[in-house]
Amino acid sequence: MNARKNLLDELICSRHSVRAYLDKPVPRSCLTEVLDVAARAPSGSNMQPWKVYVLQGELKRILVQKVCALHDELFLNPQKAQLYKPHYAYYPKEWVSPFLERRRENGWGLYSLLGIERGEKEKMHQQHRKNFEFFGAPVGLFFTAHRSLEGGALIDYGMFLQNLMLAAKGRGLGTCPQAAWNSFSEVIMSHIGASEHEKLICGMSLGWPDNAQLINSFGTPRLSADAFTTWLDDETIDG
Ligand SMILES: Cc1cc2nc3c(=O)[nH]c(=O)nc-3n(C[C@H](O)[C@H](O)[C@H](O)COP(=O)(O)O)c2cc1C
Repeated sequence: MNARKNLLDELICSRHSVRAYLDKPVPRSCLTEVLDVAARAPSGSNMQPWKVYVLQGELKRILVQKVCALHDELFLNPQKAQLYKPHYAYYPKEWVSPFLERRRENGWGLYSLLGIERGEKEKMHQQHRKNFEFFGAPVGLFFTAHRSLEGGALIDYGMFLQNLMLAAKGRGLGTCPQAAWNSFSEVIMSHIGASEHEKLICGMSLGWPDNAQLINSFGTPRLSADAFTTWLDDETIDG
């Protein structure tokens, strides 16, 4: 029992977002296993809202080319960004404390590890652009849900995605969930052949981590349980 607990805790705590990958394919059987494990996630009324699109090879290459070109165009003409809308708001319209500080800490932490300084907009653009290359991963995933589904489906989806990332990690694979793609939802939906009844939830890079790359050493902090938990009784205090 303890060994099982330790294994699961180790898997959860060692997972991190992987942003550089080896140029090595992932067998279809391995992907199928990971998706089957992910689908054991619980969901309200067992509605299983997930729908997954797997991109590899030529189809992935064409989408990467298309979206990178768009991303570059928007860098030069930021006013055109309003033409590209996500299917739902992942991030808040207005960032308030403490989320704003955490977001900044995360972004600047990553950039400073890479030697990118404030004001170096071209370098930041190039780094952000790597999202749209799936960070060099051999597999790109897109997740959609039926447009009729509400916020509950997003809770269910989160569990599915975490399962997927842990099942992948357990097989030595790395992942990076990506909301970055959401700005280009319409372009993606038509490329992957999704129907008008679906909305894009997010994308994800998946593949074998390239641990020689500095970016994969990026670690992120977490608050401890006591910082975000209100104990309403003292009956469970140890001892
Ligand atoms: C739904 C979701 C979307 C995310 N989108 C992006 C993204 O577009 N690009 C990126 O580099 N990281 C993205 N991340 C990764 C987060 O930045 C990362 O999970 C967080 O900083 C904690 O780091 P860790 O995953 O290494 O533990 C996303 C994470 C989640 C859960």
